[in-house]
Amino acid sequence: MRKKIVAGNWKMNKVFQDAEELLYDLSEQIEDGQKSSKVEVIVCPPCLYMEMALDLSRNEEDERLFGVGAQDVSEHAQGAYTGEISADMLSSMGVEYCIVGHSERRKYFGETDEQVARKVERLLEEDVTPIVCVGESLEDREAGRHFDLIRSQVEKGLFGFKQLDFVKIIIAYEPIWAIGTGKTATPEQAQEVHAFIRKVVEEKYGKEVARNLSILYGGSCNAKNAAELFAQDDVDGGLIGGASLKAEDFVTIINSFK
Ligand code: PGA
Repeated sequence: MRKKIVAGNWKMNKVFQDAEELLYDLSEQIEDGQKSSKVEVIVCPPCLYMEMALDLSRNEEDERLFGVGAQDVSEHAQGAYTGEISADMLSSMGVEYCIVGHSERRKYFGETDEQVARKVERLLEEDVTPIVCVGESLEDREAGRHFDLIRSQVEKGLFGFKQLDFVKIIIAYEPIWAIGTGKTATPEQAQEVHAFIRKVVEEKYGKEVARNLSILYGGSCNAKNAAELFAQDDVDGGLIGGASLKAEDFVTIINSFK
């Protein structure tokens, strides 16, 4: 089902005490009714804080205030992979989502589309929802290669799955030139690529699947520009980096849907 989603990607930020404060602030503000029930909120802290995030994601009546996600997962199911975290570990903790193929993983850790596909497969086996990132560099955009590149990332990363699995996936379009730079894509640029991704998905899986796919925008999305981006037909929400590190900003973004 196509959902409105706002996910916060904390990346490698916040020591324990600051993470605790942010999670408290978030759960308090969401508990106070500052969030529309139509929006699925996801918080992706560093894995070390997962248990705390899961605790604070529920109120005293055990109602769920937000979903918790990881920022990455191993492509392997288990075993001798020092430092890695597996999909079954995530699901056994109650983690519901996981970001895959973020451009920082692709750039600094050499993650390929084939690895993205294996990670998505591991997550789907464990009923953890993958949030799969695609997006072009400034160089690709300036050379007019961005549509081809995004098509190839979507096809190689995600088109090996049967329809019944593909429908569980969320896609995030994150132009690399907009991540952490303060240079947001214009609403028109975001809409153009989101509509393109939906078309590519439609060619493979059909109209219904494409219509129900949630596509998030990421890249310097903040409390000021979120409303305009989220107002676009094919933008179903955001994957938020820097602006998810302050509770007030993140809650403003959550409430930016018309
Ligand atoms: P940003 O990061 O909002 O800080 O640009 C977005 C992301 O990388 O997910």
